[in-house]
Amino acid sequence: MTADLTQTPQQTAETFYLKDYTPFGFEVESVELTFKLAPSATRVVSKICFIPKPGTPDPRFFLHGEMLKLISARIDGVDVAPTVTPEGLTCDVPQQRFVWEAEVEIDPAGNTALEGLYMSGGMYCTQCEAEGFRKITYYPDRPDVMSIFTVRIEGDEEVMLSNGNPISKSDGLAVWQDPWPKPAYLFALVAGDLVNHPDTFTTKSGRKVELNIWVRHGDEDKCAFGMEALKKSMTWDEQAYGREYDLDIFNIVAVDDFNMGAMENKGLNIFNSSCVLASPETSTDANFERIEAIIAHEYFHNWTGNRITCRDWFQLCLKEGLTVFRDSQFTSDMRSAPVKRISDVIDLRARQFPEDQGPLSHPVRPEEFQEINNFYTATVYEKGAEVIGMLKRLVGDADYSKAVDLYFERHDGQACTIEDWLKVFEDATGRDLGQFKRWYSQAGTPRLTVAESFANGTYTLTFEQSTAPTPGQPDKDPRVIPIAVGLLGANGDEIRQTQVLEMTEAKQSFTFEGLATKPVPSILREFSAPVILERETSNAERAFLLAHDTDPFNRWEAGNALAREARVAMVLEGAAPDADYLDALTKLLRDDTLDPAFRALILQPPSQSDIAQTLHERGHTPDPQKIYDAAETLAQTLAQQLADSLPRLYADTTVTEAYTPDAVSAGNRALNARILTLLTRLDGGEQAARQYETADNMTQQYSALANLMKAEKGTVQSQAFFDQWQDDRLVMDKWFALQIAMAVPEATARTAAQLTRHPLFTLKNPNRFRAVMGALAGNHAGFHHANGAGYQLLADNLIALDGLNPQTTARMCTAFQSWKRYDNDRQALIAAQLQRIQTTAGLSRDTNEMVSRILDA
Ligand code: BES
Ligand code: ZN
Repeated sequence: MTADLTQTPQQTAETFYLKDYTPFGFEVESVELTFKLAPSATRVVSKICFIPKPGTPDPRFFLHGEMLKLISARIDGVDVAPTVTPEGLTCDVPQQRFVWEAEVEIDPAGNTALEGLYMSGGMYCTQCEAEGFRKITYYPDRPDVMSIFTVRIEGDEEVMLSNGNPISKSDGLAVWQDPWPKPAYLFALVAGDLVNHPDTFTTKSGRKVELNIWVRHGDEDKCAFGMEALKKSMTWDEQAYGREYDLDIFNIVAVDDFNMGAMENKGLNIFNSSCVLASPETSTDANFERIEAIIAHEYFHNWTGNRITCRDWFQLCLKEGLTVFRDSQFTSDMRSAPVKRISDVIDLRARQFPEDQGPLSHPVRPEEFQEINNFYTATVYEKGAEVIGMLKRLVGDADYSKAVDLYFERHDGQACTIEDWLKVFEDATGRDLGQFKRWYSQAGTPRLTVAESFANGTYTLTFEQSTAPTPGQPDKDPRVIPIAVGLLGANGDEIRQTQVLEMTEAKQSFTFEGLATKPVPSILREFSAPVILERETSNAERAFLLAHDTDPFNRWEAGNALAREARVAMVLEGAAPDADYLDALTKLLRDDTLDPAFRALILQPPSQSDIAQTLHERGHTPDPQKIYDAAETLAQTLAQQLADSLPRLYADTTVTEAYTPDAVSAGNRALNARILTLLTRLDGGEQAARQYETADNMTQQYSALANLMKAEKGTVQSQAFFDQWQDDRLVMDKWFALQIAMAVPEATARTAAQLTRHPLFTLKNPNRFRAVMGALAGNHAGFHHANGAGYQLLADNLIALDGLNPQTTARMCTAFQSWKRYDNDRQALIAAQLQRIQTTAGLSRDTNEMVSRILDA
């Protein structure tokens, strides 16, 4: 029996709903898989033991399966003839325990979608989350079906890995066994000619764990930093959460072609090489920090994701929101907590706020989807982490620990829901979290307005919250909002320490008594809730908070607000750069008592897209060119105002010691880079060219090159950079991106178009595609240039990629999500491109869903 069902399933508009959840009718007792590796015709033999669940037994079962060529199927040793469709198979089954055996053939070499088993740079690797396992064999590919896996790999590859512990190895064969029940999405297999960076770790209870980072030949000198990060993560999870590792071996593999950053497969994490390989010569400080965080993130999933997993994909935030929260705690502990908090908020506002306020807005726990891959979003991840931060703030640190301990104790080995998660908090604290749960079910970013009054020693803050309608949710109920507030006296002293006000009503007042004079409030300290705070206040008060607030986040926030108001006034009123703002910056820049990393953040102006969003929120139509011009004028004015001190400041902040990627020296380099950016506006790139010559690390080489390019003085260095690094893919991604990021608006699309014709450009590598198209979409004034060339170029490339890699295509469609902010001409240009994509023959379900949702705005 041979059925050829290797065509891609046709795009369907089928929508899946949370409310339709029904458990699978069978337990899976065990899974045995044998892989006979061959690039274009790998055979997968499965032997799976099913047990019908008590109750009304199902006379037949459905197994997912896509792009599989079914060779044979047997139940209890007898051939069966299932009904096969492009989505899977249905088969009559016995009413008691039975063994299903199937053999399928798959084509890893032809798999450009990078989901299931595919080849990257000559090695076999897998990506199964969310629904990729069904491209490997027929199986109930849903996270609530958990089982133990034994995997035999037959092939002549040097290294052959799977989940769990190795149980036998000989020529042409490796056998792995994972004792922990897991859903299929955590399955992984890697085979290839790899080299190993080994180490060991002893857990607090004395288990000795073999650690390996497997990479391609030539990359072995880029593993040491990742290995240190892994060991730090293992220690941190023991100390902070009491969680130990639970296998004898932990493998990490780096692959070049990967849709996401990394994946937490049990005992065998697979990483995009950009998220694990690091060396001072090829990686920037930002790369090092991200690698440390992502290694931690995937490792932390071993408990929050793997030991306790999700019942269904609507519960994705259960593992992702929590694990992002845990990895930010880790980074705060390893580096600077305030700097991490500020960076996270910058990121939240840049990625999640636009999502939440546009056509793609959805709850942290969505209730419907067509393609789950489209819901690995900033809302599920970053807002999901913010929601946990609020919960912790509301119940306090001790009760947070109690509740999380209860979660591990009660749910180990289970596939859970957000209800389970909230219940452990209710049980551990006695709180009713009914209203809090709205953070999971209601989409949209609440707006918080605040009014203040002072009389007879009593200071009153009155808050009002409201959330604009989002797709499918016209009306919103008030949420619980923890508002951390402190009060400052006129001399800058803190007269009331931080206190968390718990807002539950649409409008609510809070009073502070016994004050001699009207205080200056510092509201939403540490960004205690993911809301938009609207407060009428003066620049003088912002400058006061920037100088005196004891909460580092709000100190930064005051500077950020000053910068934003200065830019908005320039755009709307043609105002000159605000003198108070320039003075405040000048002071900060020279204030050696402040952490350099913090100073660098304050010097980092709000992004142009952030200004566009602010203008839109206030009822104006943003003009990208004007926003660009204002940014340029402000930076130029600041540079001129500082002219006398810049060379000196540059010299004083230059890091001359041998490169180390730690947070302190990275902070020093970040500040130095900000100063170089200002200096380059005055010296035409002289200092940047010198820095380029002498740099012995990528951080300084890259910042020098970026500044030279911005000044349009970088032709020689850009060529030199290319010559030096053309054989290093990850550095070449930087080279591609930088040219587009630094281009002036009118040259952005042209530069990007030229680069898509470069011999090293390829649609097949997601990193390269994102380097070019992500940089195009990220150059605000260039992408939104009135001639529409940016929109057209992105659409051309999305259409070209969709047939190869739907997942990466669909994610990149988010570049268009804020299109309703802009003027009618731009909206018409974007709509035309979106329609062109939508009507492309054979468009993937992934991209179709994204484009349709964006257009429906
Ligand atoms: N589980 C995800 C990886 C994933 C995402 C697989 C979507 C399949 C589809 C992993 O834990 C993850 O979240 N990775 C993030 C990085 C992390 C630091 C937030 C990623 O890949 O971007
Ligand atoms: Zn994750």
